[in-house]
Amino acid sequence: MIRRPPRSTPKPSSAASDVYKRQLLTNVFYEIKKMKEGVVNDRIYTVEHPLIQHKLTLMRRKDQSTAVFRQLLREISTLLAYEVTRDLPLTLVKIDTPMEEMQAPVLSGKKLCFVSILRAGNGLLDGMLDLMPSARVGHVGLYRDPKSLEAVEYYFKVPNDISERLTIVVDPMLATANSVIAAIDRIKQAGATNIKFVCLLASPEGIEFLHTAHPDVESYTASIDDRLDEHGYILPGLGDAGDRIYGTK
Ligand code: PRP
Ligand code: URA
Repeated sequence: MIRRPPRSTPKPSSAASDVYKRQLLTNVFYEIKKMKEGVVNDRIYTVEHPLIQHKLTLMRRKDQSTAVFRQLLREISTLLAYEVTRDLPLTLVKIDTPMEEMQAPVLSGKKLCFVSILRAGNGLLDGMLDLMPSARVGHVGLYRDPKSLEAVEYYFKVPNDISERLTIVVDPMLATANSVIAAIDRIKQAGATNIKFVCLLASPEGIEFLHTAHPDVESYTASIDDRLDEHGYILPGLGDAGDRIYGTK
């Protein structure tokens, strides 16, 4: 998490103000540097696999075609799914190989549930379902109000027994975090308690807001980018993920 001064910190005197600001900036840059180096803290994990990073660069290019962009996102999402499911519990069952009987590991417990934040979340969902075709799927329909950047909900449907499942929320972009915070609020209201979040790109601001609002949620991303612009877009980013996946601009 990026450290900011606690609310209760008294304002420094004007003489100390420059030193204080410099120290604050140093802290922020140090935290961002740490974030970019892999495991950031115990709640955000940057997946730095070379295949992911290479494919992400191809996606970012502004002249990339819609078809290739969508295909690359699908491929990266399969690789991200591999990371986010790394600690799924296993149990042993008896099977017969052609040679002999053995105790072999299988996934234990209920199948997990993906929740896609529409519409761009579906671009990440497809590759994850390639790997886990029996997973349950919920959908939260949200769009960002372009002026306020608040998330506006237009659809919500998740499995009734979501409280018994590991829930993996997917959305390529974590910008202001308004969308994912709103989605997780609703998923928790529906009963989910074990929640992870996977995105493709995250802003440092978004990470901080998400983890302040939902400190129990572990996040995975392919990249922590530099900052948000004045319209809440990630820089350097890749533009509007939904438009690039579906070719709507
Ligand atoms: C995009 C993206 C996220 C949201 C991220 O969706 O897919 O859901 O913005 O921004 P935030 O962190 O500031 O909330 P958008 O609202 O453009 O809708 P779309 O997926 O339907 O294009
Ligand atoms: N949503 C997007 O699709 N892209 C951004 O950069 C920010 C929010």
